[in-house]
Amino acid sequence: MRAIILAGGTGSRLHPLTIAVSKQLLPVYDKPMIYYPLSTVMLAGIREILIVCTAADEPAFRRLLGDGSQWGLDIAYATQAEPRGIAEAFLIGERFLAGSGCLLILGDNLFYGGGLASLLQSSVSDVSGATLFAQEVSDPQRYGVIGFDRSGTPNSIEEKPTDPRSSWAVTGLYIFDKQVVDVARGLQPSARGELEITDVNLAYLEAGELSVRRFGRGLAWLDTGTFDSMVAASEFVRVLEQRQGVKIGCVEEVAWRMGWIDQDQLLALARPLCKSGYGDYLERLAAL
Ligand code: DAU
Repeated sequence: MRAIILAGGTGSRLHPLTIAVSKQLLPVYDKPMIYYPLSTVMLAGIREILIVCTAADEPAFRRLLGDGSQWGLDIAYATQAEPRGIAEAFLIGERFLAGSGCLLILGDNLFYGGGLASLLQSSVSDVSGATLFAQEVSDPQRYGVIGFDRSGTPNSIEEKPTDPRSSWAVTGLYIFDKQVVDVARGLQPSARGELEITDVNLAYLEAGELSVRRFGRGLAWLDTGTFDSMVAASEFVRVLEQRQGVKIGCVEEVAWRMGWIDQDQLLALARPLCKSGYGDYLERLAAL
């Protein structure tokens, strides 16, 4: 299983913030946004990761993340020339995927909660078909929305419906088997000119190969698509980090807890980060 983090797009809903800087590099409290989806991928146990971003932003992503070896990862990069849709990620990533299954995560989605790591690890361990993760939201019109029949089996998925059939939104985290590249190749652009992830999901649904895992109340899913939701995400991270004294989305910590780097490596990563306090946190971990 390999992972793609989709971090392209124009970020136009956040202009002028995103004119000079990629949205996924903007801060969410004390770290760049992409650390959150990256740490989610790592908690799933996946170390081979493709970052898809714009050509203009690639140097900045490389400066931040490098080849990932400092965290025991293998990070590759590919560019998306225009935002032609989320599902284009599978075509761009075809060679990287090399016939393996794919976890796709949107670079602006933040997941947090107890049990997330084990849920993800069990979901990627035996992949057939597609697995979506859904959560109830108060504003389903903003998202892909899943409808269920009386027995709770998914029977519809609609992208940003004006009249949603349920309050269950499709989150920006998807697990697909190796068929996904062929499915994406068979798509036609939608009316807005994009290869829609919802059409990929519908193809799996129609083939009877789609399962949905519903996140309960204890799991937080935040996106950062508007000024207000970005501030809310920062505030969420700040409140929890200060209250509990632990960090959310700390890639160095996840690498260490997964056993991909040792204590000495963690300390070496901490040193250049000490002035901000982030490094002090890593040093405290290393002393545990
Ligand atoms: O956040 C979950 C939602 O994400 C799902 O419920 C929807 O079904 C799905 O379509 C998507 O909706 P959004 O309106 O959030 O999609 P958006 O176009 O904003 O793209 C999400 C991220 O993916 C964004 O950070 C930019 C990136 N992106 C998007 C497109 C269309 C790319 O890198 N390339 C693209 O071509």
